[in-house]
Amino acid sequence: MEFHVITLFPEMFAALGAGVIGRAQASGSITICAHNLREHGLGNYRQVDDTPYGGGSGMVMRPEPLAAAIDEVMAQHPALQRILMSPQGEPLNQGLVRELARNRPGLLLIAGRYEGVDARISAMVDREVSIGDYVLSGGELPAMVLIEAVTRLLPCVLGNPESLAEESFGLSGLLEYPHFTRPEEFRGMRVPEVLLSGDHRRIRVWREAEARKLTAQRRPHLLAVPGKS
Ligand SMILES: C[S@@+](CC[C@H](N)C(=O)[O-])C[C@H]1O[C@@H](n2cnc3c(N)ncnc32)[C@H](O)[C@@H]1O
Repeated sequence: MEFHVITLFPEMFAALGAGVIGRAQASGSITICAHNLREHGLGNYRQVDDTPYGGGSGMVMRPEPLAAAIDEVMAQHPALQRILMSPQGEPLNQGLVRELARNRPGLLLIAGRYEGVDARISAMVDREVSIGDYVLSGGELPAMVLIEAVTRLLPCVLGNPESLAEESFGLSGLLEYPHFTRPEEFRGMRVPEVLLSGDHRRIRVWREAEARKLTAQRRPHLLAVPGKS
């Protein structure tokens, strides 16, 4: 799967060279290509922003450099889905991540900066996506979050694909049950006896009950619509 990102800070994407995403790149499961928006900047100073019409604080990203960057990438990869990272977009959840992971050949992500992008850029994208109801300084971290979440769902990326079914927001749509490892006792807290029993049926029943309990405490809305997150 291909990820293209239009950004003023392409160097930030080097952070994705580590761990699962680094291995997915090394094995060829994904490619990540960060396109420097500055190359499409206007005039000698490669300007990409300007003051807002109507006044107000901060700068707004001009549409022409963004449009030129989008056109250039799409001319070479016409089937990419174009996504503007925006706090005003549809919320990224595991359901949307699953949908995006089915997208071939891949995604073009647009990372804003400053006060955001000129509103006319919305007409040039397929959707806008938010990683949560808070505001970051730029769309690079949101783009990386989306890339990471999508990549781990791709075939052959995770060593044990079963973990995808069992984890939070997986097949059951619930939060995952709690995990324990050695030692059996840590600072006075013991591993639940059932997990030491070797009785796989009891362990499964316990885990299902714990997952429901945890979900009821922390994300009760997930119990209302099983399988959806
Ligand atoms: C400082 S933000 C702009 C916020 C905008 N003025 C507002 O109030 O909605 C600059 C850029 O960061 C990115 N960004 C910030 N928070 C985000 C979030 N929660 N999800 C996705 N992108 C975000 C977007 O690309 C946005 O254009």
